[in-house]
Amino acid sequence: MSAVDAGHDLATRVVHAGLDPDPTYGSVIPAIHQTSTFRQPSVGEFVEDFDYARSANPTRAALERALGLLEGGHGTAFSSGMAATHALLTAVCSAGDHVVIPSDLYGGTFRLVDKVLTRWGLEYTMVDQTDLDALAGAVRGDTRLIWVETPTNPMLNVVDIAGVVERARGAFVAVDNTFATPINQRPLELGADAVVHSTTKYLAGHSDTVGGAVITAGAEVHDAVRFVQNAIGAVPGPFDAFLVHRGLRTLALRMRAHAENAAAVVAFLQDAEGVHEVRWPGFSGMVSFRHPDATRVAERTRLFTLAESLGGVESLVEVPQAMTHQSVEGSDAAVPSDLVRLSVGIEAAADLVADLRQALHATVTAPPA
Ligand SMILES: Cc1ncc(COP(=O)(O)O)c(C=O)c1O
Repeated sequence: MSAVDAGHDLATRVVHAGLDPDPTYGSVIPAIHQTSTFRQPSVGEFVEDFDYARSANPTRAALERALGLLEGGHGTAFSSGMAATHALLTAVCSAGDHVVIPSDLYGGTFRLVDKVLTRWGLEYTMVDQTDLDALAGAVRGDTRLIWVETPTNPMLNVVDIAGVVERARGAFVAVDNTFATPINQRPLELGADAVVHSTTKYLAGHSDTVGGAVITAGAEVHDAVRFVQNAIGAVPGPFDAFLVHRGLRTLALRMRAHAENAAAVVAFLQDAEGVHEVRWPGFSGMVSFRHPDATRVAERTRLFTLAESLGGVESLVEVPQAMTHQSVEGSDAAVPSDLVRLSVGIEAAADLVADLRQALHATVTAPPA
């Protein structure tokens, strides 16, 4: 049994959650079970639920226990954040159901709902969830699920999860907690029914794996999510599960460093020439701002790598409208073309500020394109 439980501080939980020393050799970090199947001494006889690795794998199970312990629910791991989102939506909703989604959200989530699930009869309404009256107005008698993303990607708006739960009228409340992480926000404690993560981001934290997770408050929904996990088969391989689990162990430390650096970057950007509407939720490392020459700023940074994704130890920069959010173009969730999104890493803050300073300066002094 793991040495930690819900009574321990999160900083302690992240280090130990889901990790039991190997029972055979005593290795402090259990072996990676890189196997597709498990020997059965007799027909139908196997350890726990380990009969075939799509259905269950000990390395994945360890990660799932850890994720459950960090969010305060039942964890299920997936091969990507989108696979996790798909599994939760299909486990909870049926054809003809209505869902409420935010008008400011990750483009891939919108694409899944708008381009795939509507073909199977799902109806949706988009609403600005920072306006709780508007949210209440969007919830219908047949609303099965409310999808919350907070802070939102890429506008970094913060939604009052407890306020959404109060207005849900019995609908299932799912929260994409990718940007906040359980270090900063635990939606299940605020009354939400499930949490989704792209573990690709802060949870794994090193930009070296793609993964996702669903953590549910209720055991029944958990069973439904696991059923979809096995039926669809979008499971992480053992090595990917190991990488996410290893990343989790430094999550508390990393989130503190990301936030400290983001505060320094924001302090610089607020007075920087040409920069306006600097956004930062006050925690985590996600910062966005507007600049008339957004593309050139993003192309001129050196330490901040121009790339999609976020949440790794290294700093990244992108222009959402042209990169991560093309799928929302022309919809209510479209993002401004002059928006720059930063994922502030854990390098020295002074170096990050110097890099942004030179990128903005180079943009101001460059001849017109
Ligand atoms: C908030 C949010 N949710 C979900 C996803 C999807 O995750 P993945 O890329 O791991 O499928 C992303 C990806 O950027 C994201 O930013």
